[in-house]
Amino acid sequence: MTAPEPTSARVRLRPEIAALPPYRQGRPAPANGFKLSSNENPWPPVPAVERAIAAAAAEVNRYPDATALALREKLAERFGVTPDEVLVGAGSVSLLAQFVLAAAAPGDEVVYSWRSFEAYPGLVTVAGARSVAVPNRADHGHDLDAMADAITDRTRVVIVCSPNNPTGVAVTRDEFERFMGRVPDDRLVLLDEAYAEFVRGPEAVDGRELLGRYPNLVVLRTFSKAYGLAGVRVGYAIGPVGILDAARATAIPLGVTAVATAGALAAIEPEAEAELLRRVAALVERREGLRDALVAQGWPIPEAQGNFVWLPTGERTVEVAERLFEAGIVARAFPGDGIRVSVGETESVDVLLRVLGELVEPSQEGPST
Ligand SMILES: Cc1ncc(COP(=O)(O)O)c(C=O)c1O
Repeated sequence: MTAPEPTSARVRLRPEIAALPPYRQGRPAPANGFKLSSNENPWPPVPAVERAIAAAAAEVNRYPDATALALREKLAERFGVTPDEVLVGAGSVSLLAQFVLAAAAPGDEVVYSWRSFEAYPGLVTVAGARSVAVPNRADHGHDLDAMADAITDRTRVVIVCSPNNPTGVAVTRDEFERFMGRVPDDRLVLLDEAYAEFVRGPEAVDGRELLGRYPNLVVLRTFSKAYGLAGVRVGYAIGPVGILDAARATAIPLGVTAVATAGALAAIEPEAEAELLRRVAALVERREGLRDALVAQGWPIPEAQGNFVWLPTGERTVEVAERLFEAGIVARAFPGDGIRVSVGETESVDVLLRVLGELVEPSQEGPST
């Protein structure tokens, strides 16, 4: 008689966790193709960053400094705050999870715009809280008035993503200030600025200008995008000490590695940073060129302030994504909604324009300006 196959089906898991969709990392790009599905920086690290990471790798028998003090000090200096007002995490997604856990418990609500960063719903569910997803406006930006209206006694956190991933639209300074005026100051607002360095819109909100002005505001940024360190996982939050302490308490200890902080510290040294910001400027120029060309083709592309553009392909999403894939481009498709395409290698732009030029359909919305 053969023993029954061991099965984990009977193990009692939290049902809401077991029901979460598994993490989908984009398909790898085909040979000679382009991976434009994760908003990564297309350049490898600058030599000084690579050297710093290699040097830190030689000491990985030791635990890292649990509070990443050296990096917090540097960041505090540039943002004009104290090191205690800076929290470093293993990517800003870890920090988002920490803040949600710190503020929202079962029965509480977390308000965010939708569609936005894919991680938000899962982080809220893991905390045991409930998502309140407020639809984006027709121009694919946050509807901050509707978000303020959605705040109830149960609301503990509101997440504002600017520029919004995946649609690219930035919240304006005026919109944000009006919104903060409507949010009770005992509710935590997280301003997720993962793409801040790519923003060129003069009216866009800039968390840096708001530091110290609100007792309930935390600004989140990352080294993953503009600074090209997605692989080592390092991001940071700036905000009131009491809120940061609570978020610190929810972290798994020692999550930020010495390799990550060494990379980040090297990336903000003047020479390395100047080169990294030149790359950001090149990506911004490429983004503008790509967006303008797509709009000229007839695609209703919304404002693009990140390192990506949004194609509102609706029901055609799977078909368009497949055609891009056949041409060697992996983009992030959200079936029924749209496709997010990262601004990557120069050569990818020609391929994108060729394929998308063949697929454009006269739009009912007309091109965005
Ligand atoms: C809006 C937004 N926030 C946060 C993150 C997380 O970035 P990381 O955890 O790499 O810092 C991302 C990554 O794609 C993002 O798009």
